[in-house]
Formats: sequence, structure tokens, C-alpha cells
Amino acid sequence: MSSKSTLFVANWKMNGTPSDLKEINKVADFLKKKFNKFLKIVIYCPPIPLLTYFSKKKLSSSIKFGAQNVSSTNIDYGAKTGSLSPKLLQKCGAEYVIIGHSERRFKGESFSEIKKKINTSLNSNLKIILCIGETFKQKKNNKSLAILKMQITKSLSMHQNLSNVIVAYEPIWSIGTGVVADQAYLNKIFNFLNIFLKKKYKIRNPKILYGGSVNHSNIKDLRLIYHCSGYLVGGASLKAKNFIEIIVNYYN
Ligand code: PGA
Repeated sequence: MSSKSTLFVANWKMNGTPSDLKEINKVADFLKKKFNKFLKIVIYCPPIPLLTYFSKKKLSSSIKFGAQNVSSTNIDYGAKTGSLSPKLLQKCGAEYVIIGHSERRFKGESFSEIKKKINTSLNSNLKIILCIGETFKQKKNNKSLAILKMQITKSLSMHQNLSNVIVAYEPIWSIGTGVVADQAYLNKIFNFLNIFLKKKYKIRNPKILYGGSVNHSNIKDLRLIYHCSGYLVGGASLKAKNFIEIIVNYYN
């Protein structure tokens, strides 16, 4: 259901150039004009070199920045070639970090690694967006809920500051495919996640995003998902026009 605090997260993956600052500027202008009085939050997660560049610009207080990955190292600076610690990401302008995206898990990122990344990030007060989701085969075999439960259990620890955790439910078979699950299925999943995060982890108001082929037309259905706090948008977040249309259609 539409709410003023709905999050729209742009996952740019390995896309964008410095000149795409103009796309973010357009979104910032739109937010200022249309939503001046409300707190609307758009979180851009571009590649790191762009994050550093974009986040230095004074855009809009409604636009925040995040990274797409973080190292599991528990030191802030040191001899770790190619690694990016949570502290370093924060210095580059990140307030959020996406962890455990399926595109990284396909490349071998394990849940024990994901857990370490979450631990070090939360210890540094970096807010995390934990991606979970089932394959089409798992869905077909009625395994979705068990898989999601397992993914969360292997990623989160009870003692962490879980108020800084956002869970992004992204059915793997919906990412970049244009295929989106039906309403009843999504409601079942979100209801399950909401109860599970409340009961097991004592999170009072769990923040759960939907991700996977979100666009300006399906947002009208996706906004009806119960307990959905926002959207993780890939392809349709790259151009301001498409991203703005998603936000407009969500509120109209
Ligand atoms: P998509 O990507 O919107 O292009 O399907 C979503 C994601 O992978 O986060």
C-alpha cells in the first residue's frame, strides 16, 4: 500500500558514467517539485567510482547513496588489495550497501561470507539491503518459503542492530526477465517474511522491498503488495524518465 516513506532503490549494477549525473539531477528536481513537503527517499547504488563522484554533489535531501557490495574484512584500512571496507564506503558517500545480490551469489558468494559482510557493515552503522530470493525451480517445487527462511537465517544474527536491516525479496526468475509473480504469490511471500522477521528477530516494523523487473506499468500492481516498504529497481532506474514514471505511477 502506498506510503510516504516508501523507498525506491536504484541498483545500477555495472552501468553508468560520470555524465549520468544528469539523470540523478532530473530525479532530484522532480522530488523537489512534487514532494517538497514529504520525506521521499530514493537511494542510488551506482558503481563505486560514480558513487564517490555523485555523492559529493548537493542534490536533494531525499536522495541517499549506497554501494552494491562490501568486503567482509573487519579492519577499516590496511593491506587488503581490492577490498572496500564499510568505513571506506561511508567515506565515499554510502549510507547503504546491497549485500548478497543473486548476481554475486551466482559467482560463488556464500552465505557465511554474506553474514560476515552484514556483521562488519552493521558494526560500522552502514544500513544494509540484504537480497534474498528463490529460483524458478524452487518455486515450482513449492520450496520458496523454506528457501527464504534458510537464506535469512544464514545471513542474520540475533545480536545485531537489526533496525538497520532492509530485506529485498527478489525472485531470481524475475530479475531482468520482465516476468513478475502474481499478486497472491507475492502477498503470501511478504506476509511470511513480515511475520518471520517480527517473530524470530523481534524487528518491530520489518522493511521489505520487492525487486525484479519493476517498471512504470507493473508498479500499479506491485504497490498493492502488503507489507512492502519499497522497490529495488535495476534496468528501469538508469534513465530518470523511467524511474520518475515508476514513482509517479506508484502515487497516482
Ligand atoms: P531488474 O533488476 O529491475 O533489472 O530486474 C533488479 C535487481 O537485480 O536488483
